[in-house]
Amino acid sequence: NTPKPLAGKRAIVTSGPTREDIDPVRYISNHSSGKQGHAIAAALAQAGAEVLLVSGPVSIPDPHDVTVVNVICAVDMQQAVDRALPADIAVFVAAVADWRVDSQASEKIKKDKSGKPPALSMIENPDILAGVGNGKKRPALVVGFAAETENVVDHARAKLAKKGADWIVANDVSEENNVFGGDANTVRLISAHDDEAWPKMSKEDVAAKLVERIAQRFETVSV
Ligand code: C5P
Repeated sequence: NTPKPLAGKRAIVTSGPTREDIDPVRYISNHSSGKQGHAIAAALAQAGAEVLLVSGPVSIPDPHDVTVVNVICAVDMQQAVDRALPADIAVFVAAVADWRVDSQASEKIKKDKSGKPPALSMIENPDILAGVGNGKKRPALVVGFAAETENVVDHARAKLAKKGADWIVANDVSEENNVFGGDANTVRLISAHDDEAWPKMSKEDVAAKLVERIAQRFETVSV
């Protein structure tokens, strides 16, 4: 009988990459296995929360006791998240593509005989976290992730404010850490007034520790 500190709470988690089509055979995407987001969804469910996981294309299994909505692109991910509101907790782990091509070709783009590559015109994708963090149906606790290769804490603090998040889990994804697709993660939990460096641990352990912090927050603050 594991304790269920988050019983009665609703949580939304985004995970995996998004995939933005260029034409019927090509796409732009981000490195993301979904391992960290899926582990967080599983840990929230284990703590008793009712969890909706909105996942981009991944090749790992669905977590247990979690409702999964599969999406491909950022616009669909945003729609799925908006539909899932209201919630008490939202954790944005997905590596959302920042841009998409502004008009997808309906036929495969052919190579130009002169060898000139096509010029893709891109438009910005919606920032799903910022929309929720600054939105009317904002969950009581909003957590974002920040993958950075330098000035990790500064960039994360800037993101907190801009995106309306309570916490940012910042990870240093510079090459030597092998975060993408790997099983371990070295993160810092950053809030407006705190900055906690966690030792290198498995993505499951990061998930468990984060959910422990979430449970504590709901214990001490009546939200
Ligand atoms: O700005 P950046 O992409 O570094 O921010 C990362 C955080 O914002 C992550 O929590 C990610 O899931 C979220 N995000 C989002 N929608 C975007 C871009 C990022 O939800 N379009």
